[in-house]
This record gives sequence, structure tokens and C-alpha cells, in this order.
Amino acid sequence: MKIIVTGGCGFIGSAVCLHLVLERGDEVLNIDKLTYAANPASLAAIADHPNYDFLQADICDFETMRAAFEKFQPDAVIHLAAESHVDRSINNAHVFLQTNFMGTFSLLEAARAHWRKLPADKREGFRFLHVSTDEVYGSLGPQGLFREDTPYDPSSPYSASKAGADHLVTAWWRTYGLPTMISNCSNNYGPRQFPEKLIPHMIFNALQGKPLPIYGDGSNVRDWLYVEDHARALRLIVEKGRPGEKYNVGGHNERTNLQVVKALCSLLDEMHPRGAPHERLITFVEDRPGHDHRYAIDATKIESELGWRARESFDTGLRKTVRWYLDNEDWWRPLLERSGYRGQRLGLLDVENA
Ligand SMILES: NC(=O)c1ccc[n+]([C@@H]2O[C@H](COP(=O)([O-])OP(=O)(O)OC[C@H]3O[C@@H](n4cnc5c(N)ncnc54)[C@H](O)[C@@H]3O)[C@@H](O)[C@H]2O)c1
Repeated sequence: MKIIVTGGCGFIGSAVCLHLVLERGDEVLNIDKLTYAANPASLAAIADHPNYDFLQADICDFETMRAAFEKFQPDAVIHLAAESHVDRSINNAHVFLQTNFMGTFSLLEAARAHWRKLPADKREGFRFLHVSTDEVYGSLGPQGLFREDTPYDPSSPYSASKAGADHLVTAWWRTYGLPTMISNCSNNYGPRQFPEKLIPHMIFNALQGKPLPIYGDGSNVRDWLYVEDHARALRLIVEKGRPGEKYNVGGHNERTNLQVVKALCSLLDEMHPRGAPHERLITFVEDRPGHDHRYAIDATKIESELGWRARESFDTGLRKTVRWYLDNEDWWRPLLERSGYRGQRLGLLDVENA
């Protein structure tokens, strides 16, 4: 297939581009603005591949998007470009609304302009997959799972901007017939994630002997999915999913944040014994405003309708992840230097700068 991937220099987008080009033989145009979160080095393995092309552009720029569709003539879009960090959305919501909501609008319109001109058979087969999050559903109590028909109830500027984008995507299907689909996925982890996110953040701090700051009492629950399992799910949805449908994607791996950090500490004790026991570095810090307590995905629909299954358990995936960061300092050290990110606390109300 010829697929436009947006946000392909980010964490999940790079895993998607690598999967499409190297494992599926697809032709990919990656459109990415290269924000602080991007790392083109993540795509070194395909940078010169004949089936891979890159366009540095902002998805909010409709004319550039329209021209890119016209030139590349895609069969499908996997739309991942977004501002993705909840803590940053608390301090500066504007760019989240701009990229996540207005950027999705611009991309939908560019896709529609392309789709309308396609011959009938190509129009029928065209797919626009919007990659969203389980955070649009809000917070669960101790019981229950998010299903595709769970009502939206977002808590953060990030999840509200993603929820708004999801509604646009559904409206473009209902109003214009553009064959859109939405995936709502739980927390991803794995190689090539920007170090502000929980798992890489804890690994980097532990390696430097710095405190491991856990929000609140560490009892918040997330449902973890290995990023390569997510990439396979997205390709499968593009191939077999039904237009107008939503698919929840999750790995049945609920863990409290404290459990995640303790598991990381014991892997580091084994693989990087200098500094052990790493658990002595755990500290509890002020909670995130509006912190959802629990997310958990019911992935029955994608499993039964499309035959997808997560391959990694949390134990195998976390071990691979720690190994990858230990072995790939040349990936993360230049990124830290270039982005200016030093592990500082983000998302507290008294440092508001919006
Ligand atoms: N990380 C997760 O756990 C998770 C879970 C579920 C859903 N998602 C969704 O998956 C997508 C990818 O998440 P991620 O963690 O890889 O994000 P990321 O922050 O690592 O990467 C985002 C990428 O988008 C690009 N980008 C940002 N604004 C852009 C713009 N205006 N135009 C073009 N490119 C732009 C950035 O340069 C970056 O390469 C997002 O839509 C996110 O909401 C993420």
C-alpha cells in the first residue's frame, strides 16, 4: 500500500514507519514538523530506502497537505502527528488545540480533496486512520474496562484536544462519507520514546543516580502496550477495519505506576548493577492536576474481528525496553542535548506559562 504517516519521527510513528517499510513492503511518505519530540535518528534504518520518503511540514498547513496528497497519491493515511504529553498540555494548551484539533481538521480536508477525485474502486478502498488515545474516556474506578461505546469524558487539555479530533473524524465519515476509522490505544512503551514519559524518564534518572519521582502515591493504573504491537494493530486496522468504526487497542497489562517503577528498578539492578538497589531512589511528589486514576482497555473487538493479539507481555516488553535504552545511548544523548529537556518537572499549576 501507499501510506501517508503523520508524526513518523515520533515514538509510535517511527515504529509504524519501520513496520510498514521493513515488514510489510509498503511505500511510505512520512510528514512530520520535527517538534522537540521528533528524532529523525529513529528512522536511520529506512532513511535511504526506496520505499520511504520524508516531508518536513506542519499538518495545520492545508495547502502543503493538499499538495502532498496530490503528489503521493496515497491509498491510506495513518495520522499520528500530535502534541502528546499531558503535563505540557497543562502549562501550554494552545499548541495542543492547534495541532491535535485544527491539524486533524486540515488533514481531513486534504484527504477529502484527494479522495473525491479518485476513481470509484480507489475511493472505495481509501482509508483514513486517526490514532487516538484511551484518555478520551476519562478515568475508571477500580472495576470495569473502556469499550468502544464508553462515553467520552476527557480530563486534561491533551485528552480534550484528542477527543475533539475524534469527533471531527467521525463527523467527516457521517457527513462526507470519507472512510475514516479511529483507534483508541492505552499507554505505549518501548524503544525510541522521548525521555519525558514515565518509563524512559525513570530509566534515565536511575542511570544518573537521580530521584525517581512518582506522582501522588503511585496508585494510578495504566494499561501498558508494547509499541511494536501497536504498530501491527494500526496496519491491520488500515487493511481490514471497517470505515466509520472505532477500535480499542490494549495489551491487558494493568499496572500501578509504583509497580512499573519497581519493575524497572529490579531490571536495572540486574542489567546495570552499578547504583543498585535502584529502589532507594524512589520519591513521591505532588500529584498531576486532574490525574485520571485508572485506564484499562477491553480489546475484544480488535481481537475477535481483526484477529489481532499483543505478542509481548509486560515482563518481556519491559526487559527489551530497558536493554534497548542501555544499548542505545547514541540515540538518546544527542536528543536530550538538542531538545533542552533536563528531566525538569512539568505540568504544575504554579509554573503556568500559557
Ligand atoms: N504514547 C502513547 O502512549 C500513546 C497512546 C495512545 C495514543 N497515542 C497517540 O499516538 C500518536 C503518537 O504519539 P507519540 O507518543 O508517538 O507522540 P510523540 O510526541 O513521540 O510524537 C509526535 C510526532 O508528531 C510530530 N508533530 C507534532 N506536531 C506536528 C504538526 N503540527 N505537524 C506535523 N507533525 C507534528 C512531532 O514532530 C513528533 O515527531 C499521538 O496522536 C498520540 O495522541 C499515544
